[in-house]
Amino acid sequence: MTDQVRPARLARPFAGRARELQAVAACLARLQTGQGGAILVSGEPGIGKTSLAGQVESRAADLHVPVGWGSCADDEGAPPLWPWRQILAGCAARPAPGDGPRDRASRILPDVAGQDRPGVAAPPPDGSERFRLFESLTAEVTAAAAHAGLVVVLDDLQWADPMSAMLLAHLGRDLPTSRVLVVAAYRDRELSRNAPAQAAVAALVREPGTVQLRLAGLAEAEVADQLEATFGRRFDLRVVAGVAGRTGGNPFFVAELGRLVSDAAAAGRAEAGSWVTRLPEGVRAVIGQRLAQLPASCRDVLSTAAVIAPAIDVRTVAAAGGLTPETVLAGLDTACGAGLVRTAAGEPAGFSHALVRDVIRAEVPPSRQFGMHRRAAEHLEAAYAADLGGHADDIAHHWPSAGPLAGAGHAARWAGGAAACRGPTPSRTVETNTV
Ligand SMILES: Nc1ncnc2c1ncn2[C@@H]1O[C@H](COP(=O)(O)OP(=O)(O)OP(=O)(O)O)[C@@H](O)[C@H]1O
Ligand SMILES: [Mg+2]
Repeated sequence: MTDQVRPARLARPFAGRARELQAVAACLARLQTGQGGAILVSGEPGIGKTSLAGQVESRAADLHVPVGWGSCADDEGAPPLWPWRQILAGCAARPAPGDGPRDRASRILPDVAGQDRPGVAAPPPDGSERFRLFESLTAEVTAAAAHAGLVVVLDDLQWADPMSAMLLAHLGRDLPTSRVLVVAAYRDRELSRNAPAQAAVAALVREPGTVQLRLAGLAEAEVADQLEATFGRRFDLRVVAGVAGRTGGNPFFVAELGRLVSDAAAAGRAEAGSWVTRLPEGVRAVIGQRLAQLPASCRDVLSTAAVIAPAIDVRTVAAAGGLTPETVLAGLDTACGAGLVRTAAGEPAGFSHALVRDVIRAEVPPSRQFGMHRRAAEHLEAAYAADLGGHADDIAHHWPSAGPLAGAGHAARWAGGAAACRGPTPSRTVETNTV
């Protein structure tokens, strides 16, 4: 894996967070004595939640404690229990000694078969059926933890599907007596839009073994450390102060500002530090500035991709933006070089950070977004006419998002399709402009 496609959680080096790391070490120590619990990591976008969870992951690995990592997807198309599927698949890849290589995920998750195929009207199991499923999955997780303990990371909990959140609450009751340490990371302001996830957090907070870590911005000295570690040189103190002041110590903003200053210095602009003071408020401007350096064709691609989906499907983006697939690919290459998009072999491209997508999308006027969604829906209907089921959730998202440009009845018909697919649980808000 190259640096460019390494998940954010593996980003090195890591600055500051001494208090939080102390709390993490204490939780891991308790885990090693057989006592599980939960760490709730919350804060604004870009504040370093995933990175801190990554630190838990690597410190657990140092102690030979296995880690299962599941990320909730900001995507209506993700199947129920998506993060738990990732976690259980991780557990299956590391069978306990004497346990044999079992595929825990496939053994248990057929119980919800059908729901991972959008378009198949299989409501989530209810009542006693759901309770049994949660009991089975909880038993799997606690069994995986029996030998050496287990750290379970649920990242981006604010986007959890209802089943995943309910399972977390269910598992929470067993944590103090298990050898499982749950690390749940979420954007606190967005959690309130997801009632099941909010309820799961509330349930965990009531458990005695839960530690809450609300991440604030890095202090100025830590910002200096982050800048030095990231860009390989000590920054002028006034620049550090400017960056810290402007960013509030949000590491994502810090990195973005630092890159501008570094680029300016590398380009020989003596007034590199003035980039900091001249910057308008917030990361929107920082990313806007980076975008402005890209060719217009690349910006068009990114605007469309930001509106259409977290994962970037070349043909859908092309159709939605009225572009050729070649233009989209070329635009993605350029954006990849600029660090705004990352690609990994065999996977669709994605934005390097959710914030990047948020900022770009916020710049696209609603009227343009309507047209993009409509063209994306039309493209998917035409391209997959023979098997719409596999794309039903995408289509069900695009038609209602096409606003007044949706054909008569489209939005209602597809909204019904998505609801049938998901059952009556409250749907989460997908479109968020968080910057
Ligand atoms: N303590 C840190 N030291 C150095 N870099 C950091 C630190 N924390 C975060 N970063 C960097 O800041 C960026 C944002 O961090 P991260 O992705 O962890 O934020 P987040 O809170 O998970 O954001 P989001 O809400 O969008 O998921 C990443 O590039 C990461 O490498
Ligand atoms: Mg994150």
